[in-house]
Amino acid sequence: MLSAYRAAVFHCLSDPGRSAAGDSTEYFDDGVVVVEDGRVLALGDAASIAADFPNASVRCFDGALILPGLIDCHVHFPQVDIIGSYGEQLLDWLEHYAYPGEMRYADPVHARAAAGFFLDELLRNGTTAAAVFATVHAHSAEALFEAALERRMRLVAGKILMDRDSPPELRDTAETAYTDSRALIERWHGRGRLGYAITPRFALTSSDEQLGAAGRLAAEFPDTWIQTHLAENEAEVAAVAAKHPDCASYLDVYDRHGLLRERSVFGHCLHLDDADIRRLAEAGGAAAFCPSSNLFLGSGLFDLAAMREASVKVGLATDVGGGTSLSMLSTMAEAYKVLQLRGQSLRASEALYLATLGAAEALGLADRIGNLEPGKEADFIVVDPAATPLSERRTERLESIDERLFALITLGDDRYVTETFVAGERVRYD
Ligand code: GUN
Ligand code: ZN
Repeated sequence: MLSAYRAAVFHCLSDPGRSAAGDSTEYFDDGVVVVEDGRVLALGDAASIAADFPNASVRCFDGALILPGLIDCHVHFPQVDIIGSYGEQLLDWLEHYAYPGEMRYADPVHARAAAGFFLDELLRNGTTAAAVFATVHAHSAEALFEAALERRMRLVAGKILMDRDSPPELRDTAETAYTDSRALIERWHGRGRLGYAITPRFALTSSDEQLGAAGRLAAEFPDTWIQTHLAENEAEVAAVAAKHPDCASYLDVYDRHGLLRERSVFGHCLHLDDADIRRLAEAGGAAAFCPSSNLFLGSGLFDLAAMREASVKVGLATDVGGGTSLSMLSTMAEAYKVLQLRGQSLRASEALYLATLGAAEALGLADRIGNLEPGKEADFIVVDPAATPLSERRTERLESIDERLFALITLGDDRYVTETFVAGERVRYD
């Protein structure tokens, strides 16, 4: 059974920030996406698609725009409970808000309810794939995978590893880090659209022994992901240097333990030197750019130009609850503002790339998701660029697709996402 969806359609074919924009994006003013068995079968102008697929049942979205499903490269599901907590920078914020919030996940009932809530919020925001941190409790990762399987979402996730310098209630050990993660990998990695991420929280809260155990797992399961935090905050960077005087840099702490490879995704990457950036690129690791979190926690300004210059893969991320919204549209606007403060610019197509194909490349999933090329999994969203009185007024004055996309990401949030499709099926909230 062929289903077809008709509206304006925009997606990226490569990075508009690294090539001439004309070749890197595709736009159909009156386009159609044809879906079969959960995958994109065809994409093109309505006129030609109607001739090629006369039997497809067509749904029209007048005045709307179809985009690929948005991808959040770094987000903490338990932190939906503490998002918007006042007044601290990273290390105090962890101690006063994030850790106490995560303690509640000792209760599996709370973990299950929060996992379902979190994924429904992602979908309502048009986010169809994500790399997610659970808590230290193995059952919190179980709950998240179960909820994602039910929703057929593409999700990479893992239980946090932390065995020092954190509340005792939230600590595991090097041994349980290994055995619990291994059991989760065996149960969930590659099941449905799910993948496992070995998830040491960050260098401050994992002993060398635990980082070593994580590195062993990463070598034993080379197609798993690795996710952690890197060089987010100056006090954190200084504390890591004090604890690891033998390491050349913060990145080197992970590198020495085999935690820097393809499919390693590092949140933040704000305070790296040129040698680190080069090493990150050479090893095939990716940076998750978390603009709303970096502003909210006063952490610093991401240097996208330096990452591009070195060919580091970059994906956009909310980092909720350090981040202040689960909306990748509003996160794109925050990325633009961060780069303004850096004296860099970000066109709308570049921002969308970071939240779609660029994010998929950062996660090593670009053969499956990230745009609407035929053969890709049919994750897409329908957006109403005139969803509010203000944006209705604004869009009346806009002509080109670039202008319309830029107004959309500047004003956009969950209100603008009218439908979300996961693997070809419309998500229902009722
Ligand atoms: N570094 C270690 N843990 C965290 C966390 O939960 N959030 C952020 N933003 N940074 C971290
Ligand atoms: Zn984070």
